[in-house]
Amino acid sequence: MSKITAVATVCAVPALAILILIATSPNGVTPPHIPDGSFTGLIPPWPVFKVAVKINSFFATAARVTTPPDVAALELATAWWKSEVVYGLGYNGIFDLVASRSMTCHDVATELDLQEFVVCQYMEAGVQLHVMEKNDSSEHDSSTYSLTPVGDMYLKDNLHSFLMMINEETRDAWRGASTEVIKSGKVSGFEASFGGKDFWTYHNARPEKSAQFDRAMKSLGGGATGAMISDWKPSREDIMFCDIGGGLGHVLAHVLEHYPRMRGMVLDQPESAKRANEYLKERGLSNRAEAVGGSFFDPFPEKFSECDVYHIRHIIHDWPDAENVLILKNIKESAASAPTKSKKSVAVVDQVIDTGASPAMEQSKRLMSINMVASNPYGSRERTVSEHEELFTAAGFSGAKDIKVTSLRTIQTLLEAEI
Ligand SMILES: C[S@@+](CC[C@H](N)C(=O)[O-])C[C@H]1O[C@@H](n2cnc3c(N)ncnc32)[C@H](O)[C@@H]1O
Repeated sequence: MSKITAVATVCAVPALAILILIATSPNGVTPPHIPDGSFTGLIPPWPVFKVAVKINSFFATAARVTTPPDVAALELATAWWKSEVVYGLGYNGIFDLVASRSMTCHDVATELDLQEFVVCQYMEAGVQLHVMEKNDSSEHDSSTYSLTPVGDMYLKDNLHSFLMMINEETRDAWRGASTEVIKSGKVSGFEASFGGKDFWTYHNARPEKSAQFDRAMKSLGGGATGAMISDWKPSREDIMFCDIGGGLGHVLAHVLEHYPRMRGMVLDQPESAKRANEYLKERGLSNRAEAVGGSFFDPFPEKFSECDVYHIRHIIHDWPDAENVLILKNIKESAASAPTKSKKSVAVVDQVIDTGASPAMEQSKRLMSINMVASNPYGSRERTVSEHEELFTAAGFSGAKDIKVTSLRTIQTLLEAEI
């Protein structure tokens, strides 16, 4: 064997092993159909995900331990400045305009009829925050700006509505939690800040705000849906998948596109259900999917007894224990009213805490937990696996201790219980 062949063989064997490892998803399943542009196609294989998280955690820890305490303290005190810069760039349409062509800040200000001095300050800050990049020019005034991949995420067809929603009323709700609820309890930060109105009463009275919230949830959840589909296996490919509190029907649409023989339903508040039916029609899914208006606190409409999977994502964290027990009981009763007995399950997807995820993810879940204190009825929060088990037990699920826990290649965890 020549030296070259020997070296090639030595390199080829580990390379092949790595390829096999990368192509395999040890905990997951291979979805039967990945439509173009699907988030599922973007989920990295498990080994890549695990290595990337480790590398990211290493550098995050290195950055933390090498930052002096006074600098870290100032960074935390002013962290909201960063959100405000991206909010200003999004609110004024600067991200979308710059996405259409790279432009000087002078031209951006002229086209959007804004103050050039302030626009240039915001766009320079955007460069420092890595949402924009400056295309070099010898003359400062003629530098053009374009978006980085992070900046692209804030466009109108992506996270724009989430950026608006989380930096508008939600900011005031947090302040209510930090100053009022922390002392007096009883209500949400939202109620403390908005004259006693709860989140849904306030939003339902403002259709544009409520539509913004639905769009925010749709744009926020794509990665989580892709990750769920990648590591969740239905008992059959022609089941009825029901998304309880499924908003615009974005999760359902994504699932049905992967499983062309599956059917599905969404149960959500009446106005959201109307928007969901329009969305499902746009996606060409009306023949297999429908949204029904109603409340998950009431007995479910009769047709929901056909559901094989009752999927509830980002619902449990929105409510205190008693309300969650009621939702789970309603699911159980709906399943029990089916004329023929078949295998049925509940699939909860939430930001379950203390699952041994990376430090950055656990930190993010803790902050989301406060977001729940701010926005939702008193007692709402992220929960651990065992706190979820307690809810299932209280709702009368006999298999509550056998919940199947699947970590996903994202911040969410999937908890499945047989009914
Ligand atoms: C945090 S969002 C989650 C949306 C979606 N499941 C997702 O993961 O993107 C909460 C959802 O619960 C719905 N909702 C709130 N109260 C409800 C009720 N009483 N009955 C049914 N749906 C409700 C909202 O309209 C919204 O779509």
